[in-house]
Amino acid sequence: MGRVTENVHGLRKEERMEQYAIQGGNPLVGEVEIGGAKNAALPIIAASVMTDETVHIENLPDVRDTNVLLEAMQDIGVLVNRSGRHKVTINAARINNLVVDGDNIRKIRASYYFLGAMLAKYKSAEVALPGGCDIGCRAIDQHIKGFRALGAEVKIEYGLIKAHAERLRGNHIYMDVVSVGATINIMMVAALAEGQTIIENAAKEPHVVDLANFLNSMGANIKGAGTDVIRIKGVTGLHGSDYAIIPDQIEAGTFMFAAAITKGDITVKNVIPKHLESITAKLLEIGCEIEESDDAVRVVAAKPLRPTQVKTLPYPGFPTDMQPQITVALALSRGTSIVTESIFENRFKYVDELTRMGADIKVEGNTAIVNGVAKYTGARINAPDLRAGAALVMAALAAEGVSTVEEIHYIERGYEDFHLKLQALGAQIEKVSSDRDMQKFRLKTG
Ligand code: EPZ
Repeated sequence: MGRVTENVHGLRKEERMEQYAIQGGNPLVGEVEIGGAKNAALPIIAASVMTDETVHIENLPDVRDTNVLLEAMQDIGVLVNRSGRHKVTINAARINNLVVDGDNIRKIRASYYFLGAMLAKYKSAEVALPGGCDIGCRAIDQHIKGFRALGAEVKIEYGLIKAHAERLRGNHIYMDVVSVGATINIMMVAALAEGQTIIENAAKEPHVVDLANFLNSMGANIKGAGTDVIRIKGVTGLHGSDYAIIPDQIEAGTFMFAAAITKGDITVKNVIPKHLESITAKLLEIGCEIEESDDAVRVVAAKPLRPTQVKTLPYPGFPTDMQPQITVALALSRGTSIVTESIFENRFKYVDELTRMGADIKVEGNTAIVNGVAKYTGARINAPDLRAGAALVMAALAAEGVSTVEEIHYIERGYEDFHLKLQALGAQIEKVSSDRDMQKFRLKTG
């Protein structure tokens, strides 16, 4: 028996950080049930502190980001009860601290939603500066501009954003950039401010609409969410609510592209097809067949993929959160495609990993020139962030041979049971955490 040594992570030599082992080559076929939208769940969970009454939330995704946010709420005295994996009851009547800080909360971007929610209710909030995926400069100037316009004083000190107000009053706010997070934060504060607020150039994403619907279900008066002008009449208080979160547009889109990438046939169920239109349009353009029903979309990739051009844009444009997935598909198409990333400048980091699997992609600034290749080959790759991580898993599922994908904690931030859902579609993928697991996987998949 060999000597057991430790590596930099303190793991014994035979142990590995959890990673996915993938044997590529199987077209993914079957049905997959889509969960609740992570990016709707995060502001909805935070907004639950805006009432002293109890809030019941259903269709909650069981992913790391939402769990971290719920833990942070418990740390400040919020009662959080999970009644089943996808249901939670929240009561914030006994909040005992208006400072939200801690190791976990600093890692996720959505911590900033506590600012809007607590500033609205308590006129005071201090929250650790947001972290999140490293996909480019993630400014918060528009959030701050909105809070100030509504009467708050905002400063950044000791790693915290601090917002305080004597009175919050409605205002007419023109957003300089279309920002999901800033639109949501301003909406929360304006919901409990005096008088009317108008947000111009607002984000129109489905999760912005979902948060507005949730706040309205608690007694807020918000109109126009889903258009670029949102009008909010402040109310004096909010009450409890029973609310179900919308399906996750990006999880659905990811599995739709899994069909294209693996030449498969996948039906995504429990979706709102309207939210998927930009994704469906691109899949049709590249040669997939699509069948839609009220709450499901089937994607069949029977023909070779065709190249296309795509530019990421705010909703209803093609989502930046789907950019790596479409690039992985286009890199297997017959011809040259152009992918332009216009939201986050650092979202092509995964291209180096994909190149190691055989892709032919050249990145110049915010544009990728993608020359299609006939196939990928298996490699040891790293997930650089959430969506790119998922896209690389799909590349590995299409590749010849075995791949390992490391740093899968990024993927687990936003995809529930990702490898189990893929297995159910016929993928040969397993979570491994030791060399022995890896050997077993190789023997099994031969
Ligand atoms: C949300 O991030 C999502 N995160 C992101 O999803 C998503 O990629 C992004 O919206 C775009 O759709 C959550 O919902 C938790 P933005 P957010 O504010 O709100 C600039 C995922 O994979 N900007 O709409 O942070 C900013 O730099 C994640 O699930 C400012 O200039 O995005 C960017 O270029 C990753 N000033 C653009 O706006 C500001 O004050 C859009 O950012 C705010 C943003």
